[in-house]
Amino acid sequence: MAWLHRLLPEAASSLAPGVDAVFSLIFWMSLFWFVVIQGVLIFFVLRYRKNRTRYPAFHSVALEVFWTLVPTFLVMVLFVYGWRQFRNLRYAPSDALEIHVTGRQWLWQFTYPDGRTTLNDLVVPLNRDVQIVMKSADVLHSFFVPAFRVKQDLLPDRYTRLWFRATRADTFEIYCAEYCGTGHSRMLGRVIVLPEDAYETWKNRGEGGTASTKRVDPVERGRQVYETRGCKACHSIDGSRGVAPSFLGLYGHSVELEGGETVLADENYLRESILDPQRKVVKGFQPVMPPFQGVLSEEEVDAVIAFIRSLGTEEGE
Ligand code: CUA
Repeated sequence: MAWLHRLLPEAASSLAPGVDAVFSLIFWMSLFWFVVIQGVLIFFVLRYRKNRTRYPAFHSVALEVFWTLVPTFLVMVLFVYGWRQFRNLRYAPSDALEIHVTGRQWLWQFTYPDGRTTLNDLVVPLNRDVQIVMKSADVLHSFFVPAFRVKQDLLPDRYTRLWFRATRADTFEIYCAEYCGTGHSRMLGRVIVLPEDAYETWKNRGEGGTASTKRVDPVERGRQVYETRGCKACHSIDGSRGVAPSFLGLYGHSVELEGGETVLADENYLRESILDPQRKVVKGFQPVMPPFQGVLSEEEVDAVIAFIRSLGTEEGE
């Protein structure tokens, strides 16, 4: 049924057909019984709408047994069929490539076997089993890739896992599927599936950049970092007040801190606030930003500062 599949997200993992098959079975079974039951209901309403005393209620043990056993059997079919797919989803092949994920308010941080990290962009090889080992640095999040038909919660102080094998070289959305605060709807990421040779090239490039990283001018590069590495979820660039102070007109102005102190927003202040945000918290804001020490490269920190600087020194507050 092609039109039913058009209602579903594209299927791009080895697990997707199995999940879709369970979904289709439940869908068609439900539709069938809906039509049968509503049909009988409507028929009875019309057929027996008068003279209700002429047809007294009766009791039939055979009928009761019949309509108890049939649904029981059907539900057992669904259970066994669904259970087999569930088991398939649960247990990763033992030679799967392992990638660690940390969910934070509000970004995804991926750590690869060679120790490098990327933010919001998960780069995986095509047609390889990949196991994702997840934990949260703060509250509950949920890692959801609709095209792969996989979804799993991330918890603080505990590891959870899921696995998939991507079957199409393309870019797919990652959503956070568990409400986790103000930035929840913007906690977006991408899975970038690369053919084996492109993946090797990416891997051998060494530094912790993302696949989309190119050397461009620092301001453009900074904008890219701002957009892909989680800054955007909290810091606006149009002066509007979000979870965190806006970047508009920040550079070169004095900033009032919790505790009454005032600092000048220069390179050193910005750098410190990116790497160790809890040191100087801006008055009126919560200390919720995770430290980016060891997460952003030197080059990325420089670029973000260049970007913030480009957002003007004219505007006030
Ligand atoms: Cu993280 Cu919702």
